[in-house]
Amino acid sequence: YGEFNQKIDYVFKVVLIGDSAVGKSQLLARFSRNEFSIDSKATIGVEFQTRTITIDHKTIKAQIWDTAGQERYRAVTSAYYRGAVGAMLVYDITKRQSFDHMTRWLEELRGHTDRNIVIMLIGNKSDLGTLRAVPIDDAKEFAQRENLFFMETSALEATNVESAFLTVLTDIY
Ligand code: GTP
Ligand code: MG
Repeated sequence: YGEFNQKIDYVFKVVLIGDSAVGKSQLLARFSRNEFSIDSKATIGVEFQTRTITIDHKTIKAQIWDTAGQERYRAVTSAYYRGAVGAMLVYDITKRQSFDHMTRWLEELRGHTDRNIVIMLIGNKSDLGTLRAVPIDDAKEFAQRENLFFMETSALEATNVESAFLTVLTDIY
């Protein structure tokens, strides 16, 4: 019965951060279970999901943590970031404010994590291009200045979600 007992070589903790309603929980649902929900509820406290992937013949368990964007529902900050080796900094391409807040989220992240942490800036909801409020060039410039990876994703259409997580996990490895 041991055939399902995979040997895990590494466990990587990756945290999702960003304003409420940018799509953090749906990016996680898409990556971990290939699911999406239109009537997603605001996260309260902390949740996490895992997915096991293979890189270079090594088995890696990605443990992805998700917390509330809303201050009043947020997890204890230091506990949330503890041990994280990767982070997804998520904004909504149709909400300028969610992009402007990236500076603050990045500051908090850097204040609580190791300097070698791998960070991906994610502009989510790329399926809503007609409502775009954040030009790609603004995001690229910010990512370059802060030394972050950058991708636009759609949790709804499953665009670049796999690619964004795998880029971070591969770079951690
Ligand atoms: P908090 O838990 O409050 O921090 O929010 P969140 O960032 O986890 O947002 P959540 O994943 O719950 O998504 C918020 C809303 O945006 C939901 O109605 C989702 O269905 C919707 N949503 C998430 N991703 C996408 C996307 O890629 N495209 C579109 N069109 N809608 C999305
Ligand atoms: Mg959520």
